[in-house]
Amino acid sequence: MEKIKAVIIGMGRMGRTRYDAMQRHGGYEVVALCDKEISNLDGYMERKFSDWKDCIDSSEMDAVFVCTYNVVIPEIVCYSLEKGYAVFSEKPPGRNLQDTLRMKNVYDGLGAPVLKYGFNHRYHNSVMEAKALLDSRILGDIVCARGVYGKAGSPGFAREWRNDAQISGGGIMLDQGIHMLDLMYYFMGEFTEIQSSVDQLVWKDMPTEDSAFSILRTADGKVASLHSSAIQWRHKFSLDLICTKGFISLDGLLTSTCSYGEEKISYYRKDLEQKTGGLGRPMEHTMCFDSDQSWDYEIKEFYEAVAEGAPIREGTIRDAVNLMKILERIYKGEKTC
Ligand SMILES: NC(=O)c1ccc[n+]([C@@H]2O[C@H](COP(=O)([O-])OP(=O)(O)OC[C@H]3O[C@@H](n4cnc5c(N)ncnc54)[C@H](O)[C@@H]3O)[C@@H](O)[C@H]2O)c1
Repeated sequence: MEKIKAVIIGMGRMGRTRYDAMQRHGGYEVVALCDKEISNLDGYMERKFSDWKDCIDSSEMDAVFVCTYNVVIPEIVCYSLEKGYAVFSEKPPGRNLQDTLRMKNVYDGLGAPVLKYGFNHRYHNSVMEAKALLDSRILGDIVCARGVYGKAGSPGFAREWRNDAQISGGGIMLDQGIHMLDLMYYFMGEFTEIQSSVDQLVWKDMPTEDSAFSILRTADGKVASLHSSAIQWRHKFSLDLICTKGFISLDGLLTSTCSYGEEKISYYRKDLEQKTGGLGRPMEHTMCFDSDQSWDYEIKEFYEAVAEGAPIREGTIRDAVNLMKILERIYKGEKTC
């Protein structure tokens, strides 16, 4: 197997997650690591840098993984692309639409280099099953969706970089809600009408929102409601996908903390004649999953793009721009298109 030489910039939680996934894959050779807090690199044997430019300029590599705070993502992504490297970047694609468009301009100017954003939720087993079910059309066409993605904050939540608007660009909606928004966009297509309420309901001593409600509508009339919350207090992931001939329910999500519960997908066919159960209680088909391979699937897709010239399928720059356009409108609290 051809080895891709990679560097990772930002060795916090996600940098380490990507590092581990690359080791499991076997097709990567991590040649250097960078973190502005050099002590975060203790225990690693690779070359170590505290300055990301120095790391990129002094290393021989094929790919750069950008796992830093949101504020520096565009600069590192653009610099790496311009140097001719493939880039894997964490979500969100910068702090705002302007940041994302900056990366798109460089991408377009270079004739579509390899650039992938880490929207790993698309690779969760329940999500992949839901996509296959929708694509099969055995439940008809999706017409609406209802999603809740909520967490409990943490003791130092208000002081985390994620809630420093200068560094992150937004609060819970940009940090976590973007994953649910991405799934809705993945399943339903582009949203053209948006209503939202973005609020600080409990964590009032920080500059970012702790709750965002949105109602989203596609040009062909599909409707979605989304609640992104840092005040759920008990972690929750729930997504209902309602189709013309049935219903899919995603409940729970496997993460490293296991705090979102068991990952489960159930689906039901519309059965008004009660052939499979009582009225309103049709036969249930359920699958439960006990492992999260999303990081491995992502790293595999990126490997195939860099080593074999395959196209990036999930987390493209187009996805990134579309999502950030919707997010910008959610933050504006837009009422109509
Ligand atoms: N896909 C997902 O599900 C997921 C989950 C969590 C975080 N993320 C994203 O990953 C990114 C990192 O989040 P995290 O949870 O790993 O945060 P983190 O705080 O654990 O790690 C970030 C690291 O980047 C380093 N860093 C910041 N600026 C730097 C710079 N200029 N040069 C070098 N190093 C720098 C920090 O010192 C820190 O070690 C964020 O963009 C976040 O939104 C994605």
